[in-house]
Amino acid sequence: MIPDYQTCIQTMQAEGMWPNIFRHSLQVAKVAGFLAEELTRAGVRLDVKLIEAGALLHDLAKIQTIGNGGDHAALGAELVTRLGFGELARIVLRHVWLNRVSQAAVIDESFVINYSDKRIKHDQVVSLSRRFEDLTIRYGQTPERKEMMHRLFLETQELEKLIFSFLPFGPDQVPLFQTSEAELPALPKG
Ligand SMILES: [Fe+2]
Repeated sequence: MIPDYQTCIQTMQAEGMWPNIFRHSLQVAKVAGFLAEELTRAGVRLDVKLIEAGALLHDLAKIQTIGNGGDHAALGAELVTRLGFGELARIVLRHVWLNRVSQAAVIDESFVINYSDKRIKHDQVVSLSRRFEDLTIRYGQTPERKEMMHRLFLETQELEKLIFSFLPFGPDQVPLFQTSEAELPALPKG
């Protein structure tokens, strides 16, 4: 099943999601929801509920991998399946890497979430360049990893072009969403 908003929030709490990842996820969901609605208005067929749930739960397994180099996308896909939200597995799995974006002519829900995640640096809406500057500092410790981040940046630029080819406005018109403290439920300290 596709969990509704409240079920997603309760799941995030139950998994002990840290407040910074919680805030990040709420912001990704706002950008993804905005793009989903605009794309739908432009005639693209998308499941908006699937996008909202996938955006909220995309980093559900993140804390399990901090410090051990594990693949939080693969682990997250397993986790959502175990929780009974198998419809979200593909989206969670593809939220870091999509692969072969340049050959895609249509977009699906995983594209919208992958892109929205790349527009939120911590909990702020930023450009792709700013997000990747930060990612490269945090994850580009070796020449190989730096090169990998650069490939991901190029792939995401292709993705941005594809998404906005359907829209009557550009990437800099995405609203600068904010998440207030009041939107955060009681969370463990982190
Ligand atoms: Fe992630």
